[in-house]
Amino acid sequence: MDGNGRWATARGKQRLFGHQAGGARVREVVESCPGLGVKYLTVFAFSTENWKRSPSEVSGLMTLFRRYIAKETKALDDNGVCVRFIGSRERLDGRLITMMDQLEELTKDNDVLYLTVAINYGGRDEIARATQRVAIEVAAGRLDAATITAETFGNYLDTAGLPDPDLVIRTSGEARVSNFLLWQSAYSEFEFVQTLWPDFSAEVFADCISSFAGRERRFGAVTG
Ligand code: IPE
Ligand code: MG
Repeated sequence: MDGNGRWATARGKQRLFGHQAGGARVREVVESCPGLGVKYLTVFAFSTENWKRSPSEVSGLMTLFRRYIAKETKALDDNGVCVRFIGSRERLDGRLITMMDQLEELTKDNDVLYLTVAINYGGRDEIARATQRVAIEVAAGRLDAATITAETFGNYLDTAGLPDPDLVIRTSGEARVSNFLLWQSAYSEFEFVQTLWPDFSAEVFADCISSFAGRERRFGAVTG
């Protein structure tokens, strides 16, 4: 969800104003998923590198996350959304962690849409943490190192049990991956759109999905 800062700056406003506008867009996108045939949606809210921003922007974002959870909990649950957070909880504020845990617990049996929210998430950090878990299992004698495969390794990632993304959309005209789902996106299709996240609508989302639907995916094989 990129482009909040530029969207605000273009309006002569503080960056946080853009993050607020961006937050409001998440609901529209989440609600459009069932109609578009999207069963799994992952949104990248805060990266392990975003701590490099000014303390006021970081704390403003953390406050927005708490407000977002408080405000959206009922609608998410009523709409059958199962919410899960990925990323490291290490540097997160205790109040936010409690709210994240409560939302996961409340919505864990919902199955209309699986919404994954990446907060303090980095693909490299996730792979490193997964490796730590694997190493602990091997050291404890519970796992035979020779049996580790790409498939079983995925079970140690934050996304264990989730399908790999079919489509990754990056907004705001940047053509970078920026540490998002590095392992999981090995064969994902990518859409880079110019739209800044606060302008990303259900229509733009639908366009991305129809462009994706027209592609031929070979997963390394030869077809036709
Ligand atoms: C939102 O957009 C992404 C978050 C980290 C919340 P940005 O804050 O990166 O906006 P730009 O790239 O400065 O426009
Ligand atoms: Mg950005």
